[in-house]
Formats: sequence, C-alpha cells, structure tokens
Amino acid sequence: MSSSLQTVLLQQEVVVKLLLGALIISIATFVAATAKPNSSCNRICGSLEIPYPFGTSEDCYLDSSFLITCNSSSSSFNSETITHTPFLRLGNIKVLNISLVDGELRVLIPIVIDCPLESNYNSKNRGNKSWTKLREFPISYTKNVLIAVGCDTLGLITSSASSNNNYTTGCVSRCYSIKGMVNNSCSGIGCCQTPIPDGIKDFTVSVESLKNHSKVRKFNPCGFAFVVEEKEYKFSTLDLQNMQNKIAFPLVLDWTIGNKTCKVAKKNTTGYACKAANSECYNSTNGPGYRCNCSIGYYGNPYLSGGCIDIDECQARNHECAHNACVNHPGSYNCSCPKGYQGDGWRNGTSCVPDIPKPSNSKHIIIALCISISLLILLLGGSSVLLGLKRRKLIKLQEKYFQQNGGLMLQEHILNHGRSMETTKIFSNDELKKATNNYDESKVLGKGGYGTVYKGVLPDKKEVAIKKSKICDKSQIEQFINEVILLTQINHRNVVKLIGCCLETEVPLLVYEFITNGTLSDHIHDISRASSLSWEKRLKIATETARALAYLHSETSMPIIHRDVKSTNILLDDNHTAKVADFGASRLIALDQTEITTLVQGTLGYLDPEYFQTGQLTEKSDVYSFGVVLAELLTGEEAISTNRPETYKNLSMYFVSAVKEDRLFDILEDHIVNEGNIEPLKEVANIAKGCLRLRGEDRPTMMEVATELEGLRIMEKHPWEKDNQTIEGMEYLPDTPTLPFNIDNGASSSVSAVSGHDSMINQLLKPVDDGR
Ligand SMILES: *[C@@H]1O[C@H](CO)[C@@H](O)[C@H](O)[C@H]1NC(C)=O
Ligand SMILES: *[C@@H]1O[C@H](CO)[C@@H](O)[C@H](O)[C@H]1NC(C)=O
Repeated sequence: MSSSLQTVLLQQEVVVKLLLGALIISIATFVAATAKPNSSCNRICGSLEIPYPFGTSEDCYLDSSFLITCNSSSSSFNSETITHTPFLRLGNIKVLNISLVDGELRVLIPIVIDCPLESNYNSKNRGNKSWTKLREFPISYTKNVLIAVGCDTLGLITSSASSNNNYTTGCVSRCYSIKGMVNNSCSGIGCCQTPIPDGIKDFTVSVESLKNHSKVRKFNPCGFAFVVEEKEYKFSTLDLQNMQNKIAFPLVLDWTIGNKTCKVAKKNTTGYACKAANSECYNSTNGPGYRCNCSIGYYGNPYLSGGCIDIDECQARNHECAHNACVNHPGSYNCSCPKGYQGDGWRNGTSCVPDIPKPSNSKHIIIALCISISLLILLLGGSSVLLGLKRRKLIKLQEKYFQQNGGLMLQEHILNHGRSMETTKIFSNDELKKATNNYDESKVLGKGGYGTVYKGVLPDKKEVAIKKSKICDKSQIEQFINEVILLTQINHRNVVKLIGCCLETEVPLLVYEFITNGTLSDHIHDISRASSLSWEKRLKIATETARALAYLHSETSMPIIHRDVKSTNILLDDNHTAKVADFGASRLIALDQTEITTLVQGTLGYLDPEYFQTGQLTEKSDVYSFGVVLAELLTGEEAISTNRPETYKNLSMYFVSAVKEDRLFDILEDHIVNEGNIEPLKEVANIAKGCLRLRGEDRPTMMEVATELEGLRIMEKHPWEKDNQTIEGMEYLPDTPTLPFNIDNGASSSVSAVSGHDSMINQLLKPVDDGR
C-alpha cells in the first residue's frame, strides 16, 4: 500500500513541478524583456563571465568604470583559433575573475624589476623599475600584500591619492648568502612583505637597491617587487636568481558602485544600483561607495531588476524537513506534512505518518489534480498573493519576536499583577516606527554599550524616549524583562517613568517618558552649563536622587538595587528635577537575603570596591556610587580622569584624601564656593566621605543620606520658618493619593521642601501618586 501511495505522491509532485516550471519560465522571460542592460549584451570573454554592472559595450555596463574590453587575437600557431582576453578600461590590465558576492575583481599586474649591474636588462624589455596604472577601484588591503624579493632590495608602494597626501611604505631585505632561507616563507630573509594601507586606488610600486647588488651579485643579481594576493605567492630560493616566467601576479581589487554611501544613494532612486527586489545595500569597507547583495534566502544578481531569485530550499535539499514535507516560500521554507499525513513535518520532530487508512487510487489523483489546479490559480493570482504571503510572514516574524523577547513572560506577569501593569502600554512596531520617523539618525538621543536611545513623538504629541537594546541573547532578554517588571512597579517622581514597550521587533524596545534637559553629567561637565548649576540646584538634585534610591532600597516587598548609579544615569527636566534612569542592571532581592553574589556589573569610577572584590551585592554599593556622584557635584570633576595624578585617577580617592587632609576648598568647584554658604558644603562633603567608606558596613544607608540632605535643604531654604508648610511639600504627605499632582505638566516641579516635623522616613518612602 505504501508504495502505491508513494507513486501517487510522486505523480502529484511531478504535476506541481511542471506547473511551477512553466510559471518560472514565463516570469523569467518577462524579466529579461524589461531588464535595463541590453539583453543582447556579450557576457562572456574568453573563459571569464562578465556579470552586470560590468559589461563589454555601452548599454551593457552601469557606468564606464565597469567597462571590460574584450580583445581578440588569433593564435600565432593556428590562425583558426581566436582567443579572447578581457582587460580593464584603463591600462593593459588583464581581468582574471569578477565576483558579485564578494565585490572582488582579480586582475593580473606585472612585477617590477631592478637589475643595476646588467646594463642591458631593461633594454631587453624584461621589466620596469616602477609601475603604475590602476585608477578605477581601490586595492584590497585584506587580501593583498607588497612583497620584495632580493638580498639588496627595497620594495616600495607610494600612494598618490591627492597631491598633498602622498605617502610611501614598503620593506627592505638585505642578506649575504642563501643560508637560513626557507622556501614558502616570506619572513624577511631574501623576501619581505608588508600590508597595504586601506583606500589606495592610485599607486606606484617601485624597487630599489642600496648597494647595487654588488655584494650579492653571484646569487642575486636583481631585485623584484610586486603587490599580490597574499596566498598567490610562495617564496622559493630559486627566485633570487631570476623570477623565471613569473612576470605578473594576481591582485584583488575591491570594486564599488560610485562614491556615495547606501543611505545617500537610496535617496536618489534612479541612480540606486541595487535594483532587485529582495536585495540589500552594503557600504564599502575600503574607501567610499557601496555594493549590493541578494537577501538571505535569495541568490542571483542584485543589480538587475528581478535579479534576486528565491532559493528553493526544498529542491536544493538544504532543509530540515521530513521526506516530502518541505514547502518553499519566497525567501524561506516551511515544513508541513502533505495532505493525508500527520506530524509536524520536521526531520528531527515527529516527521510525517499517514492518517488515512485506505484511500483509493483514483480519489488521490483527483485530489492531486485539485491541489494542482488550485495551486495554479493561486500562483496566477500573482503579486497580490505574494504580497499577502509577505505580510503574513511579517506577522509571523513579529509573533516570533514577541515570544522570543519574553512576551509570554510579560503576559504571565500581567496576569499575576494585572493592576500594576495597567499603565504599561504594549506598543506595536508600526506605532514606534512612525514615532521615530523610522529610527532616523537625527532622532538619536544617545548611544552606548547598551544600545541606542531615540526620541519619538506619539500621535497624541507626547514626547517619549525609545530605548533599543543592542544585542539580544537570552541573558539580556531576562535583564530586559527585569527592567520592564521593575519599572512598572515603581512610581516615584524622581524615577524615569516607563510608558510601555514593544516586543514585536527583533530587539525589544522600551518607551520612557522623555526627560527634556539631558543628563546630570552634561550639566556638571559642560563648562557652559556648569556655571548655571548653582549650589541650590546641586543640593536639590542630590537630595532628589538620594530620595529615589532610598525609595528603591526600601521598597516594601522587594528591595531594588540599582547597580549603576552615575551622573549619566541621572536625567534632569526643565526645572532641574532629577530622574533616575537605566534599570537594565538592577536586581530585586528578597527580604530574607541581605546580600547576593552576582557577576560584577557597573561603571568604572563608580564601582563599589568592596562589591568589586567580593561580588557581594548590597544596597551599600549604590551608596558608594552615590557618594561619587556627590563628589562630582561638589568638585565638578569627572569620576575618572587622567588629568589628575595617577593615584588620584579615581575621583573617590582624590576627594577622600582632600577631605582628610583638610584641603577641601582646593578642590571644590569655584563658583559654588563663591556663592557663600560654606557650612553646607562642608556637611555635604562629609556625607560624601561617609558614602565612600571602603567597608560597606561603615557607610550610611541611602535613607540616612536622604534625610541629612533633606535637612540641609530645609535649613538653607527656610532657615527661620521650619514649620511653614509649602504646597509643594504636600505631595509627600502620607495618605493623599488623589492630589492633582502631575509629573508631566511640570506645574509643581519646583521641588520641594518637606514639612519639617512629619516623619521624614514616612515621606521618603511614599511613592508619588500622579493622580491618574
Ligand atoms: C573566481 O573566484 C571565485 C571566488 O573566489 C572562485 O570560486 C572561482 O573559482 C574563481 N574563478 C577563476 C576562474 O579564478
Ligand atoms: C627551494 O626549492 C627549490 C626547488 O623548488 C630547491 O632547488 C631549493 O634548494 C629549495 N631551497 C631550500 C632552502 O630548501
């Protein structure tokens, strides 16, 4: 039975293939008729295939730099044999090989020869002392080397890119006998080599001698130099006598289209050379210009419209499907069992087993015919169907990413913590694309090891910051979901608010409220801004940051350690209200764990030395980092700076030793000293010193720090009216969750003396409810 079934299936397969074949042929003729280079172009010269953008005559190449001249000559022995030889447009340079995939062009260039003692050497036309002819394309600096062969020989390459930018490089080989030389090894004895600088188009190779070969004439009368594809030349001691018939060597050129980048070229659609659908553009890595390649799952010539052809993985047998279960799609394939079979279709999965016990033969043929006809109709449906497939593929891909990116983890979390997630929106890919103008370069707010942050505008005109992580391996997904879950649980006016996320893209995206005024680091270290950062503002920022960290550390259910407190992670809004950002590295700790051991993570200059040594993470690590930020605020110095003496490279060392030696006023930022109040400066310096103690145990808690700073602020602002409660103060009163306070409108953001007598701790603990 099974064999008859197989015949039926084979028949079916044949019918489908025939139909498909007919269709492909008709598509191919259609493409050929409309393709831009003339279809009658000669694409062969000798044994060389000449693919577009190259061509041998007008209308056959993209522009004249891709002209290959095909010279014919009849052999001197037999005039009936005509040979064709391809040459580059300029010079007499023979072309060996053209590769579309690598963007390489292999040509043959002559060696240069210096025979100072044989006066008739050059007149015999056996070579020149120098050579230059290439103009069109840069020579590959990854594949070629400059080689000099000889025992009194200097091989040189001179680039003449522009008249004021000439330079020469090369190598020297001097030796006095053949002793010590090794065949196949160009290591400096008898043969030396040197790499080629990148971006060289226009160059001269020359060879010289130091002593006219007078001492080595017996075994080495001449010197040789040449640029060659590295693997194509193997030194032999015989080459010192003469290079015999090695008068030219292959050299690799990196050809490119034009001198624009992909981005610029794409804008000018008529001149853009990646004509094929499903092709991609690459910038050249060797000078200006770009090249094209077919996308993954396609092959062919990306420079021709319709040139990239779907790879039929099923036909090519490079698939993972069970027998007969492979289904080809544009750009990919799928495994699914044929009708009448069940299973997942994967070779390593449950493969395919028949599920209909006794099908009659004729029935099967009818089924086969029906399938074939409907397939034909489907295929004739043409572009609309293809488009539909593409869209479906995209949707599938988005679903895949959603799962890959922890969408399920997050959904589960939403189910368990429904309420706290309510305010977190899950954005679609399209929404965010629109908001950032398709991730335009002009929207980039910042780049770092973690990825890129873009500015976006949502349809309701709300400005947001969109964080696009860089790489995305499993461990980082966990980190990412961690940040999402953490931030949805935090609602504090001094912590950057997470608005939502998008999981449909390959790398997950986080959407934050947009903080208008940049990072604290910008304000401290940018000279033009630093002077406007008064002591009052600095103290306010310090207090708010401390308050946010204290809040995180004392989160009732799960304390949170930020792990990467630094001035670039503290953002400021227009009123200089501090917002702590970047919770990518943060960790939750259960209450019964006071310390956990983790991979050390953080930023040099801010990293707690105790944590660095032991790997034991506690809240006190954040306290240390905060101490560095305080020192930064006080001194205006960078956390790590090579401008200071070596031992004081770390700001913490520099600061603590100055405080200990009573030199505080030497290192404080000038203009805050000039503002007057000396006492509070001293007190904050003391707090910073406490935070920077080496033993975590000796440092104060974030709560204590916040309380002290808070106290200093009150003293400074209202030295005589401690009890005078301000309206702003009310936002920290307990049990007032419905106050119409709104983070976003900034109306109440001129923060925030706290009422003097209430329990400070209570106030600090309380998250601000924004009233929505
Ligand atoms: C041309 O280069 C390709 C890729 O390096 C190689 O596979 C092919 O054999 C070469 N052809 C000739 C004629 O050298
Ligand atoms: C290198 O190879 C050539 C023949 O290919 C041989 O005559 C010569 O002696 C070899 N030299 C050394 C140092 O092995």
